[in-house]
Amino acid sequence: MAKKRVVLAYSGGLDTSVAIGWISRDLDAEVICVAADVGQGGEDMNVIKQRALDCGAVESIVLDLKEEFANDYCLPALKANALYMDRYPVVSSLSRPLISKALVEAAHKHNASVVGHGCTGKGNDQVRFEVSISALDPSLEIIAPVRDSGMTRDKAITFAEEHNLPINVNKKSPYSIDQNVWGRAVETGFLEDIWNGPIEDIYAYTEDPSTPRPNDEILITFKDGVPVAIDGQDVSMLQAIEIMNKRAGAQGIGRIDMVEDRLVGIKSREVYEAPGAIALITAHQELSNVTMEREIARYKRGVEQRWSELVYDGLWFTPLRRALDRFIDSAEAGVSGDIRMNMHAGKAVVTGRRSEESLYSFDLATYDTGDTFDQSMAKGFIEIFGMTTVLSAARDRKFKHDK
Ligand code: ARG
Repeated sequence: MAKKRVVLAYSGGLDTSVAIGWISRDLDAEVICVAADVGQGGEDMNVIKQRALDCGAVESIVLDLKEEFANDYCLPALKANALYMDRYPVVSSLSRPLISKALVEAAHKHNASVVGHGCTGKGNDQVRFEVSISALDPSLEIIAPVRDSGMTRDKAITFAEEHNLPINVNKKSPYSIDQNVWGRAVETGFLEDIWNGPIEDIYAYTEDPSTPRPNDEILITFKDGVPVAIDGQDVSMLQAIEIMNKRAGAQGIGRIDMVEDRLVGIKSREVYEAPGAIALITAHQELSNVTMEREIARYKRGVEQRWSELVYDGLWFTPLRRALDRFIDSAEAGVSGDIRMNMHAGKAVVTGRRSEESLYSFDLATYDTGDTFDQSMAKGFIEIFGMTTVLSAARDRKFKHDK
């Protein structure tokens, strides 16, 4: 009988490297590793590919998913101004559904009946992987050796040493890091004391915002909510993020230190850096203020929050997320034009906006000559607008409901 085949989400780190041998042994299975490039940078993907083979994988696949990640995951997040708890640009939450899709496709292609990941049992990522994988193919069995089969850190190190795995067990950083082109998440021991401040050492995408340096003025052009040019040069979504990561990162923009509500019920301390995401969202929000009609703009703010929570909670492959994206796409029609932004000392500040589709009317807004707004109409408008408030307030005073 042919051996059972397992597709493993492989990062190249200690845990997933050990998991290859661990799974092969425990399940008497063949392990096929899938490493996804979602713009995390760091190690060469070919080195990671070879390491999987050296650790005993029968097949090692490296996928360049950067463009797809930028276009189909980061762009919807930008259009949604996605900030979980008003701050976290849902960095890790965005990559998990795409990686899950890649795992399921690999399982189909290589005749695997099992999919594995290296998440622990305390985080959101296990939920995102498993809900996404099951949504795409409920017949696949899912295993999580770190969570379910006692693969603790000490045992992983012993296993690596006993089996002479080509990984430096001492090189493991004290931080738990997840990164992609949309940003970077860092968790670590000393930050678990929420009174401790982050140290400069943990940051990789951003410079220290307090270092004196000249400012950087940038012009970002959007078409229907999509960033299409920077300083007049056409860019793809991926290029837009990469350029903004560099330029906003050099100004120390996009550092976030927060306590966050995880889906599993834990409150956790997270440090993020997402220079490109934060700078792009800042520009996009302000262009929306100029071009989006008031009622849809107000409604969209609620949609944005719901979208961020859904995606954070691992519910990417759901009818609600798809439907909200259709609403957002429709609302973004006309979010076109230029934003001028000054980036300096950790802040991106919009200083200018211009758009052919602007709803801002100088003639209506001005207090100078040229004013076309008929102020005499305001008095009657206020009387009718305020009528129910005035009536009910009088009633509530009379019956003492106005406490
Ligand atoms: N708390 C964030 C989230 O749930 C980031 C988790 C990333 N993982 C990590 N190892 N730092 O989306």
